[in-house]
Amino acid sequence: MIVYLTRVEHFSAAHRLWVDGWSEEKNMAMFGKCAHKNYHGHNYKLFVTVKGTPDPETGMVANAKHISKIVNKYIIDVLDHKNLNLDPSFIPDGKQTTSENLAYYIFHEIAPHLDACELHCIKLQETDKIFTEYYGE
Ligand code: NI
Repeated sequence: MIVYLTRVEHFSAAHRLWVDGWSEEKNMAMFGKCAHKNYHGHNYKLFVTVKGTPDPETGMVANAKHISKIVNKYIIDVLDHKNLNLDPSFIPDGKQTTSENLAYYIFHEIAPHLDACELHCIKLQETDKIFTEYYGE
């Protein structure tokens, strides 16, 4: 019996999507408002899903408070109210700060710290209309 448990956290951050080798027109056509030269912010919603067999005594897959502590320490405290392009973090310099890349790096940043359960998926919602998911592949 495998059950999935999701913890939701939030952070706000600024970013800019831009390819240096492209013209302004091409960047604007590809990235739209996310290419604005003075950066812009998003209120990100982060869904961290773990999976496992519920413990026979507690009935729980994992302690949600423990997951929250890990996510806050390694992700939220690092990214919240930061500029994802300029401030130092686990996102490598020069990587596009898309939700796709963020989901990937968030997954690999916290997976090693979730020792009591298995990280299944990172879902990152950038706006009401779009989100990305990464399953560790
Ligand atoms: Ni954006």
